[in-house]
Amino acid sequence: MVSRVIPVDPFDLVIFGGTGDLARRKILPGLYRRFLAGQMPADSRIIGAARAELDDAGFQKMVAEAIAEFVPAERQDKAAIKAFLDRVGYVSIDAKGTGGWDALKSRMRENVVRAFYFSVAPALFGDLAERLHSHGIADAWSRIVVEKPFGRDLASAKALNAVLAEHFDEHQIYRIDHYLGKETVQNLMAVRFANILFEPLWKAEYIDHVQITVAETVGVEGRGAYYDKSGAMRDMVQNHLMQLLCLIAMEPPYHFDPDAVRDEKLKVIRALDAVKPEDIVRGQYLAGGGQGGYLEHCEDPNSRTESYIALKCHISNWRWKGTPFYLRTGKRLRSRASEIAITFKEPPHSIFDDAKGWRENVLVIRLQPNEGMNLMMMIKEPGPGGMRLMQVPLDMSFADALGADAEDIPDAYERLIMDVIRGNQTLFMRGDEVEAAWAWADPIIAGWEARGDRPQGYDPGSSGPEDALMLMHRDGRRWREIKG
Ligand code: BG6
Repeated sequence: MVSRVIPVDPFDLVIFGGTGDLARRKILPGLYRRFLAGQMPADSRIIGAARAELDDAGFQKMVAEAIAEFVPAERQDKAAIKAFLDRVGYVSIDAKGTGGWDALKSRMRENVVRAFYFSVAPALFGDLAERLHSHGIADAWSRIVVEKPFGRDLASAKALNAVLAEHFDEHQIYRIDHYLGKETVQNLMAVRFANILFEPLWKAEYIDHVQITVAETVGVEGRGAYYDKSGAMRDMVQNHLMQLLCLIAMEPPYHFDPDAVRDEKLKVIRALDAVKPEDIVRGQYLAGGGQGGYLEHCEDPNSRTESYIALKCHISNWRWKGTPFYLRTGKRLRSRASEIAITFKEPPHSIFDDAKGWRENVLVIRLQPNEGMNLMMMIKEPGPGGMRLMQVPLDMSFADALGADAEDIPDAYERLIMDVIRGNQTLFMRGDEVEAAWAWADPIIAGWEARGDRPQGYDPGSSGPEDALMLMHRDGRRWREIKG
């Protein structure tokens, strides 16, 4: 059963960058879906704000096209789309100048939640924040939503935090990491903190290692220019994989409360050891399957930016000392598959002769696709052949468990935008968390830059560079197969 939809308070949501790719693909279709589900109150307004000279009707047309393209056909309800579009307006705005700000102000209503989504280049965050204040558009109850990348290193993240802090309090700033809005990612907290089953075993004493994999089949074509300045470490590890690691490794917060949860995540990031150069493998996908390789996609034949990274890290605290966390993520890999696998240690003593049949217990949490959980268990092989052991999965697929209801689960952006309106920051990154993640990532990146390391080529459709296999083999372990 999917929980009941509880409408949020009426709001005015301004989307800066309203004509951009993210707004078209995710934000606007997501808002329509929430409207269709009855969560967005009828007296709410969405105002696109961008440089383009459009009027309300022009923007509504663009929104209608985005819905047609990015919302599944069975959810496209003509009457609902029309009613939704009636709540959509547009203001042409000059983020660095004065044009459009008075018009925007005149659109804002009293006594509703005001939220401002900065779906623009981070270089504009400061200008937008300043103008919202100087034009009297934002008040103490307003919220701003900022997209990643939140900086490209510690210094730039600090500068962004500082510029936002000049105009907004931390409780008004919602830094999005869309991984935190994914249903299965939130489920990590439910699994860990609503069951007694795992907690006694959730420590270095019983856990051999943890693998976190986010594998993609897409390359960077079309966004090569941005990506080449970033790479897998900045684009995925510092934020998305780091958040997953935190949810697996954190201590139970005293309450499911935004700051209690974020305090515990911060402690994990701060406890991360520096990563040794030999524990890092970087790769670049080669050409193949009729498609260009990374170097062609990024249009720099000498680029040393990684489209794949695998690394081993350690958390120096009482719970995790001695348990390695292996992280890997990459583009143009075999399948789109994200999962967390927690491998438990051997029982201290085996009473069975069939030692060969023994395999580790592994708890696999599938984030996407086929969301669910799998617990690999040992049982007796059926039949008269004596006490032979075999491994079987205890399988829980969300689609099976929830049936048709699984289709009603809001996607990450929908969920997160509704949390902004509700004023719940639990699934958003706090400024100190982002800075701590950069403080960990910076020396890793500086290290390979100083050494002049070149990423290793890997075949598209493979599971990454050969050296990544060695990273695990060296420790007597192996990666799980990347399977979609
Ligand atoms: C984004 C990255 O934050 O996450 C992209 O910038 C990546 O490079 C994307 O493809 C992956 O998100 P998802 O939800 O498709 O796993």
